[in-house]
This record gives sequence, structure tokens and C-alpha cells, in this order.
Amino acid sequence: MKVIRTEAEWKPIWTQIFKEDKQLGFVPTMGALHQGHLDLVAKSTASMDFTVVSIFVNPTQFNSSEDFDKYPQTLEADLAQLKAAGVDVVFVPSVATMYPQPTSLRFDFGDLEEVLEGEFRPGHFHGVGLVVSKLFHLIQPNRAFFGQKDLQQVAVIKRLVQDLSFGIHIEVVPTRREKDGLAMSSRNMRLNSEERLQALLLYTHLTQAKERLLAGEAWSSVLADTKSAFSTATNCELEYFALLHPETFEIFDAFTQDGARSLCIAAFVGQVRLIDNLPIIP
Ligand code: PAJ
Repeated sequence: MKVIRTEAEWKPIWTQIFKEDKQLGFVPTMGALHQGHLDLVAKSTASMDFTVVSIFVNPTQFNSSEDFDKYPQTLEADLAQLKAAGVDVVFVPSVATMYPQPTSLRFDFGDLEEVLEGEFRPGHFHGVGLVVSKLFHLIQPNRAFFGQKDLQQVAVIKRLVQDLSFGIHIEVVPTRREKDGLAMSSRNMRLNSEERLQALLLYTHLTQAKERLLAGEAWSSVLADTKSAFSTATNCELEYFALLHPETFEIFDAFTQDGARSLCIAAFVGQVRLIDNLPIIP
């Protein structure tokens, strides 16, 4: 496994891959890797001839400098896991490599900016769109792998690929969870033992809501109960709990079964912001 830091190191490798007509898989990450990331990597190594993983904590997608500063960095352990997973190249650029000068281009994903992550993290998807576009141009993969854990990010990336004609196939990998149901996330490392227990509220309410909706209960009462459960939980703050279409992100105020439906949730547990989602009708 090769660890590279610049475009100059990547280009000759890419030329060789191109000459040999190999299928190139790409998994962009911000590091602090867990089994969820490794599921994406496993999909790529299983189906592609060559796999590149990037590790870059992208400053332009953080809307709180504190969240950026506290983002866990575990490069040595990450590289060991990627080597064991059979990755061919790990791209670990510096901020100066990715952003040699300030960018003036702004990404605006239209209606996706107005709801959920778009609404609560203004500018976040601009940063994601910017860095993923740069990485796609640099790496030029045939296929890129993203997690369903970040459902709205998947919608953003698909729109980016379509609107800018990247010609890259986007493959979506299901959410990997801990045994008790908590969605794996690099941010979970920042939870203390009490917060780790409270973090389970997200998954508990997603699964309960799904059961209640499928049993015919009204969304309004499911939503009200979830809000009230979070308001009485100490140290937890619910940002949103929404019923929506998993591709268009149209938000519904009643549950109907005439199309795909998912539930999305975001909450602070202590200082740590967590998100999760669950398909009700795939
Ligand atoms: P990061 O949070 O490191 O996630 C990298 C990829 O792993 C994303 O596609 C994410 O959805 C996926 N992932 C995270 N947790 C997962 C889980 N529990 N199960 C399955 N997949 C999971 O998402 C980003 O980084 C960044 O926004 C990035 C796309 C790299 C751009 O900077």
C-alpha cells in the first residue's frame, strides 16, 4: 500500500491504471476510521481492480471551528486498517495541497440547502461539494463509495455528479451500527460513557417511529412524543426529526405509503452532534 500526499505522486500511478484499463474505486473519508468506513473500502476492493482511499479533514465543510479542531485524527491506526483491508493507495493531502489559494466558487444545492443538514449547517454542503469535486478531478475514479449514514450527503453527491457530468458511478453502502444500534461515527469517540448511553436515543426513536408509523399511528403524534422524550432527557438537544423522501428530500407532514420514505434525525448529545436515519419504505 502506497501513502501519497500530492497530485504529482498520483498522476504516474493513474496513468498506469488507465493504460492497463483497470477499474478504479475511490472512498473519500476524513479518517478516524471505523467499521462503517471499512465496509465502503471492502465494497471497493471486492468489485474494483484498484482502490484509493483519501483521508482529509476538510476545513471548508465545518461550520464550527471547534468541531473542526476537535475532529479526531488517528492516522497511524487508519493506515494500518487500510493496509489490512487491501487498499492500494491512500491519499493524505495537506490543506495547502487541497486549497493552494482561497476558492471563490460557491456550491448551492438548491432545495437540499433548505432542509435538515442544509438548514442547520449553512455552508456545509458547499464545502462537501467543493472538496469532493476536487478529489474527483484529481483521482478520476470509475466508481466512488458513500455511506447511507449520511443520507443527504448522498443526495448532494448524486446531484453534483449529474449536474457537472462527472461520469462517476456512485455506490451507496448501508449504515454500519454498533451492537446496540448506535450508528458508527468518528464523532462517537468524543462521547463519555454517560453520553454514549444517551446517544442511543437517536436509534431508539428511529426504530420506534418506524414501527408506530407502519402500525398506522399518525406522524404528528410520533413526532410529538419524540420531541417530548428529547426535551426531558438531560444533556440532549434534538435539532430535527423528519419524515421525507430519501432522494428528493421532500419533507412530509403525514405518513403515506405511496413512495420511498425515510426518517432522519440530528441531535446534540453533550457537545457532540450526531445524525442518523432509517428507511421506512426503501
Ligand atoms: P466521513 O464522515 O469520514 O465519512 C466517509 C464516508 O464513510 C462517507 O461516505 C460516510 O457516509 C461513510 N460512513 C460514515 N459512517 C458510516 C457508517 N456507520 N456506516 C456506513 N458508512 C459510513 O463523509 C465524509 O467523511 C466527508 O463529508 C467526505 C465525503 C469525505 C468529504 O469530505
